[in-house]
Amino acid sequence: MSDEAVAPEVTAGAVDAQAAEGVAAIAGARAVDLLEDAESTYLGKQSFLANVKAAMKHLDPERRREVGAALNRARGSLEQAAATRRAELLADERRERLAAERLDLTEGLGRARVGHAHVVTQTWERLEDVFCGMGYTVADGPEVETDWFNFEALNLPRAHPARSMWDTLYLDASGLDGVEDGELVLRTHTSPVQIRTMLRAVREGWGPPIYVVCPGRVYRRDTADATHLPVFHQIEGLVIDRNISMADLSGTIEAFTKAYFGEDMTSRLRPSYFPFTEPSAEFDVSAPDGSWLELGGSGMVHPNVLRAGGLDPEEWSGFAFGFGIDRLAKIRHAVDDLREYMSNDIRFLAQF
Ligand code: DAH
Repeated sequence: MSDEAVAPEVTAGAVDAQAAEGVAAIAGARAVDLLEDAESTYLGKQSFLANVKAAMKHLDPERRREVGAALNRARGSLEQAAATRRAELLADERRERLAAERLDLTEGLGRARVGHAHVVTQTWERLEDVFCGMGYTVADGPEVETDWFNFEALNLPRAHPARSMWDTLYLDASGLDGVEDGELVLRTHTSPVQIRTMLRAVREGWGPPIYVVCPGRVYRRDTADATHLPVFHQIEGLVIDRNISMADLSGTIEAFTKAYFGEDMTSRLRPSYFPFTEPSAEFDVSAPDGSWLELGGSGMVHPNVLRAGGLDPEEWSGFAFGFGIDRLAKIRHAVDDLREYMSNDIRFLAQF
């Protein structure tokens, strides 16, 4: 529409009528994007009002004054209507979102939801049950460890290249009497409990034989993502007896797999490397679709580790294994992001 084409017929009444139509359209817009469409139709560069404004110069002075006043009224009422409608739509949107995210925190009158243990705690306890059922006892150790227990006694002397398998968090030991800097770590695995248990068994005179599991919290210098947490949980197994072989290890892993996951799950060992076992193997569990999921590490306890635990490798042999409890629960419950364990969202937690 050229401005000259508009000029002859334009009247203040036409502008008022257009404004009334626009106000109705804006007030009836049912979503923010529809509101924006209406604003552009009635206030935009191609709108009737914009064309009238451009055509003003063709009007005689009397008409120009009337139409000009009508244009000002129209713009005012359209903008006012748009602001009102936008506020309403945003308030609706917010109300809907709050309703969708609503958490009922009311107690009282039988409506309180009874809480339960976190899924990782449930898994931890279930693992203790399974291994206790196989004749094991539960042992534990501190989360703040010395370098000796966490690494050195596990056949990882200082500067051993395999230390890079564990991204370690060191504690500032300055000011602690008799502790050198770099001496204290947040344990990177539950394996140091192997050493503590052997030493304790000898000191207290109750073993070997030793059949223990050691569940606990461990730390790595890692950024949290779907498959890693800087703070997570492992369970360590340690068996020390006479004439223990790789067959005992493999049978134990298989028995555990069936006891924990059910009779139709199976396990396999794959050759691998860990400094504290020789030979070493990683173990996988079968998934329903026939694929294998990597679960943990294992192997025959290295003679140096037996010696660090105060045992004679000529007399005693054993196997050890360790795996992530969080990861086990992830597999069992098809959790797709480990960070869910930490976010404390009741909608996640209530599923277990
Ligand atoms: N400590 C190992 C880790 O954190 C896991 C592990 C591997 C434990 C082999 C064992 C073992 O007891 O024999 O990666």
